[in-house]
Amino acid sequence: MGVVVGNPRTTLTEVANAGDHITVHWGDGHTSRYHAVWLRHTCRCEICGTFESGIRALRLTEIPDDIAISSANLDADGALNIIWSDDDHKGCFDPVWLRATCNSPEERQRRKWRPTLWGKELEGGVPEADYEACRHDEAARLAMLEHLRDYGFVLLRNAPRQAEATPDVIALAGPLRVTNYGSVYDFTYNPDALVYGDLNVKLDPHCDEPYRQAPPSITCFHFVRAATSGGASLMVDGFRVGVMLREEDPEAFRLLSSVPITHYRRLLKQGRDFRMRAPVFSLDDDGEIAGIRLNDRGAGPLDMADDLIRPMLRALRKLEAMLFDKANQVEVPVGTGEALFFNNQRVLHGRTAFAPEGDRFMRTGNVELDEFYSTLRMLAREQGNETADMLLPHGALT
Ligand SMILES: [Fe+2]
Ligand SMILES: [Zn+2]
Repeated sequence: MGVVVGNPRTTLTEVANAGDHITVHWGDGHTSRYHAVWLRHTCRCEICGTFESGIRALRLTEIPDDIAISSANLDADGALNIIWSDDDHKGCFDPVWLRATCNSPEERQRRKWRPTLWGKELEGGVPEADYEACRHDEAARLAMLEHLRDYGFVLLRNAPRQAEATPDVIALAGPLRVTNYGSVYDFTYNPDALVYGDLNVKLDPHCDEPYRQAPPSITCFHFVRAATSGGASLMVDGFRVGVMLREEDPEAFRLLSSVPITHYRRLLKQGRDFRMRAPVFSLDDDGEIAGIRLNDRGAGPLDMADDLIRPMLRALRKLEAMLFDKANQVEVPVGTGEALFFNNQRVLHGRTAFAPEGDRFMRTGNVELDEFYSTLRMLAREQGNETADMLLPHGALT
């Protein structure tokens, strides 16, 4: 038995070799099992290289499927030393890395991110952050992005009132994405608008651009000038509504998460024609919701087997009734010089009607989901936060 000195979670105390796998015990009482072939394939010695760098000499095809471990023991530094049977290859494994990759059900659940589901109770007390603090303090910026990760939205206060500053505001979450609207799109009131958002009407909660293979994910609404009256943003937690629907009507949820519908393009001036067939809800490998895409204004006509048409329309009607229900919406009044960030693959957005006289001017831009995750990981790693290795959902991809 080894002696526990450092963090018990990452201190190996015992190793037992069964040939085709090893079992190790940890300072906190946890037990992990690692297959010989898995260990050989992940060997991080100087000859094999690392996955992080991609400079790697070893290929899986060079490793016999039935490779065995001839010896496994702990060295004076507490690392795990392995010798494999086939070529006496030697590998040394860092316990911190080993624990972080343990595939027991408990550890896989532990490193999996969980959303903070929310409803009406957030109204008046939404997650928020301060622009100046986030610009100058990486801990404040990480906290802001953690809100965005966990709630799917965050309100940024004290942002600049200048239109030129929009790219800097968006950059807090990651690099700007170029979409079919360009990189930054300006929403100004225009009674003859081609884009629905440029009218001053109420907008029902929807996802933007569900017709793209990867819809925009992190979206920022930067208010250079808020409306003088009305124009509050409406936020709906698509994940929570999905969980509610799954409980109330499992069959409707099953249809919406397994049968693709066609999300239609919007005819744009640039002469592009996008459409995407995908289910409304994307699920992860545990069957949990990973993303949502839906905009009733672009969902239809249905193209599917005839016997699915009525059940699918019933399921969509039920889901939309829940999304459009004020009881599930949070009204966020966003003022001049404030910015609302949300994950368009989780949170649906709408807005109340506004008075045209106020000269409302809102600028919007996006950051890709993987760029946002990358920003989060880099900030977390720099601050020694183990959430850097959290398993995050893939979003609204099929
Ligand atoms: Fe929108
Ligand atoms: Zn090696």
